[in-house]
Amino acid sequence: MEKKRSSFTGKIGFVLAAAGSAVGLGNIWRFPYLAAKYGGGIFLLVYIVLAITFGFSLMCAEIALGRKTGKSAIGAFSEVSKKYKFIGLLASVVPIMILPYYSVIGGWVAKYLFTFSTGGIHDAAKDGYFDSFISQPIEPIGWFLLFIGLTALVVLFGVEKGVEKVSKLMMPVLVLLTLGIAVYSLFMPNAFEGFLYYVTPDFSKFSATTVLAAMGQLFYSMSLAMGIMITYGSYMKKDVNIESSVHQIELFDTGIAFLAGMMIIPAVFSFSGGDESALGKGPGLMFVTLPKVFDSINGIGGSIVGILFFLLVLFAALTSSISLMETVVSIFRDKFGWGRKSTCLFVFIGSVLLGLPSSLGFGVLSDISIAGMTFLDMFDFASNSVLMPIVALLTCFYIGYIIKPKTIIEEISGNGRFKGEKLFTVMIKYIAPLFIVLILVTSVLDVLGIMKI
Ligand code: PHE
Repeated sequence: MEKKRSSFTGKIGFVLAAAGSAVGLGNIWRFPYLAAKYGGGIFLLVYIVLAITFGFSLMCAEIALGRKTGKSAIGAFSEVSKKYKFIGLLASVVPIMILPYYSVIGGWVAKYLFTFSTGGIHDAAKDGYFDSFISQPIEPIGWFLLFIGLTALVVLFGVEKGVEKVSKLMMPVLVLLTLGIAVYSLFMPNAFEGFLYYVTPDFSKFSATTVLAAMGQLFYSMSLAMGIMITYGSYMKKDVNIESSVHQIELFDTGIAFLAGMMIIPAVFSFSGGDESALGKGPGLMFVTLPKVFDSINGIGGSIVGILFFLLVLFAALTSSISLMETVVSIFRDKFGWGRKSTCLFVFIGSVLLGLPSSLGFGVLSDISIAGMTFLDMFDFASNSVLMPIVALLTCFYIGYIIKPKTIIEEISGNGRFKGEKLFTVMIKYIAPLFIVLILVTSVLDVLGIMKI
């Protein structure tokens, strides 16, 4: 007899777990940079409009598809016909590809938390510290194993006792830490100038690329097009309102991204004396610039802010990697009927093996590059810039034209009226597919160096 599918206990558990997935490294090291680059306030505005239209529709679609079928991606897409199983297979490849390298970066965060906690702030702020750390063969692997081991431990405990419990603990702490550091950052010298730069709309920087950059960020940030929300939807009880849950998850995700900007931009401005070029994105911002900013704070203050900051980033990264692993585990369990324990072990070992090249790619394996990219960048590019838009496009096609929006609307309005019903239909059938094609084309052109985003 088939065992009953696990589930979140209720709305709060579901929303916090899904928000935990959405709030991650993307919110902290990419959003502030993009907002600063694309005209501050105007980027924020575009992002919010996209989140409540495009993001809203796709997230509703995925969660409802998961809840309706009670299955993870592969099962969910083969429900009406085996012909569409390939969409589920493609969607499943995304978290399998992301989990290993995301955990390598998670390991770096753990290492920095450790360094700051053990009085190493001056070391961390030295030029070359980061590069020399990631190019070592053994140490980064150790931190990677620790990070992915912790992730596996939570997933081992299951949906209710693992994922939900940890999200309920980490997410409120994460919000408090973000608020605290953002307020602190505003009071640093010259910080207000940075804050104004961040929020004031600069229309001269607005262009079509602003919209595309915001859209690409939205996708990744809301953990869409990788089967995660389908899996989490399959764990959602029937009496929980999908529409209002999605609004809450969006509020969380956009709110934390906005606050991350408030935390980082004024601080970097204050440190660099108003030089906006100091604000890079990705690892450079988090592991090179920010340690220098923290180190410039007098006395013990720098270490304390640094510790709290890396703790916050660690929580954000952990709740995201948990959602990735839970999704991968559920895919294998649904497919092969394996037990949770053995699947966790299998996914853990597989992800460690897949993550090793990403970790070693900055040292021992640095001579090997694929299309000019390190292993880590290549996995990142293939999953985010190529596979995710394709999966999103196929999802819109599947819902808009195969099972029809009506099926999803029925699932969502099962407990109350679906207020965004019309918006949802128009988005899924027409507008979202158009935008997704544009993102796909521009991100490929960007990597080929033909167009710069
Ligand atoms: N949404 C996460 C972020 O903003 C990224 C993520 C991607 C999380 C894939 C899980 C899976 O960083």
